[in-house]
Amino acid sequence: MPPRLEVVEGDITRLDIDAIVNAANESLLGGGGVDGAIHRAAGPELLAECRLIGGCPTGEARITRGYRLKARHVIHTVGPVWRGGTRDEPELLANCYRSSLALAQAHGLQGIAFPAISTGIYGYPKAQATEIAVREVRRHAELDHVIFCCFGEDMAELYREALAS
Ligand code: APR
Repeated sequence: MPPRLEVVEGDITRLDIDAIVNAANESLLGGGGVDGAIHRAAGPELLAECRLIGGCPTGEARITRGYRLKARHVIHTVGPVWRGGTRDEPELLANCYRSSLALAQAHGLQGIAFPAISTGIYGYPKAQATEIAVREVRRHAELDHVIFCCFGEDMAELYREALAS
């Protein structure tokens, strides 16, 4: 049974769901953007657990508890920095979605929400990143519900167009 795919415009830290995905960096020690928002909302225990993990390579994912978030878990994944598209960025970004889904499914989670990984500070072109996100979720998601949580109308519109095609 394919998952229900949904585009939501808003702040991912507000979602009441099994897991929200964090667009982290390889240190897993927090940052700006959605990473900063998730750490602020989850509280200091999240950083304490992340310290124990000891980092995460680009394209891979790690799972923690959600602490003060409504979400039960945070799946931290590290997207590629956009360097023009000749440094394996598309495959690394695809791996972020695949790794996050595999981790959610291994933990028996039924709902997951993704931000638009790498499209902020890491500069990935939004339309290309959206195509990869929708393609990989359609290919690999075996859970009930996947939310694409967009922090602005422009991203939400890109996801709606990609899902309609
Ligand atoms: N909820 C949902 N989406 C958000 C939120 C939020 N609260 N805040 C930002 N976003 C969106 C951005 O608008 C962008 O579309 O998340 C997407 C990813 O942007 P970034 O958070 O900048 O992440 P990324 O481009 O992957 O860069 C990762 O930024 O924060 C640092 O530590 C992080 O070094 C890492 C880098």
